Amino acid sequence: MLVFTNKNKIGAHISSLKKEGNKIGFVPTMGALHQGHLSLIKEGLLNNSVMVVSIFVNPTQFDNVTDLDKYPRTLEADIKLLETVSENIVVYAPSVDDIYEGDTRAQSFNFDGLEFEMEGRFRKGHFDGVGTIVKRLFEIVKPDNAYFGEKDFQQLAIIRKLVEKHQLPVIVVGCEIHREANGLAMSSRNVRLKPEYSLSAPFIYKTLKSAQEKFGTKSANIITEWVQKQFAKHDLLELEYFIIADVDTLKTVKRKNKNKTYRAFIAVYAGDIRLIDNIALN
Ligand code: PAJ
Repeated sequence: MLVFTNKNKIGAHISSLKKEGNKIGFVPTMGALHQGHLSLIKEGLLNNSVMVVSIFVNPTQFDNVTDLDKYPRTLEADIKLLETVSENIVVYAPSVDDIYEGDTRAQSFNFDGLEFEMEGRFRKGHFDGVGTIVKRLFEIVKPDNAYFGEKDFQQLAIIRKLVEKHQLPVIVVGCEIHREANGLAMSSRNVRLKPEYSLSAPFIYKTLKSAQEKFGTKSANIITEWVQKQFAKHDLLELEYFIIADVDTLKTVKRKNKNKTYRAFIAVYAGDIRLIDNIALN
């Protein structure tokens, strides 16, 4: 498997692949790859002859230094895992310097307010960091199609906005959330869960499913209060937010409107590990 660490080298390789008529799909990741990441790559392989996977723990999107330091870095295992998926994968695993050239700072973006909701409210500057790295990666990889998981639904909405506002020549494809058999959304952070938290974490999805069931007959407020109560009673999991929001604006719903589409979004601390998840409601 070809693994590049230098942007000019991968740029030249991709440009020759394109000249040969290859369609380039792209999955940006921060590594510690799991089946959720692989599901994006497999989806991409259906419509692209080559998939580029970037593996880069992006410092500018972390609002918490401990989280950045403790983020799992498992490049060798990641490459081995990718080798089991397809021969048509190219890896870009740059250093911080290759990307940021000595100036490790985020650009600031206007995502029409999407950046101020949920994750934006609780992780200051996070989406400026995400916008900065994804725009840069798009410029280096120049993919035809790029794949993002609904696991990070707000991120997906922001990338679509980034592409629209900056008129970037790439098609953004959203992919379903990949879950463990017990319902827990797969995440690179799950490997850091202590055993007792691993056992309780599926409670998050179970609660989302109950919220989804209630959505047909109950108001958003009543459901939100119900979820807050469930977590208040829970010994180990600490709710940061539960929000029912309009999928277009990501604003919290005040009164349901039949013509709108809603999703429930949740962030929970399992000890010092922060987990997020979401579910379609209608
Ligand atoms: P990371 O958390 O590694 O996720 C990479 C991609 O995999 C994202 O699009 C994410 O939504 C998707 N993904 C993660 N878990 C998933 C699951 N269980 N099911 C489906 N898709 C899943 O998201 C990032 O990295 C970074 O912010 C990045 C976009 C790479 C920018 O640094």
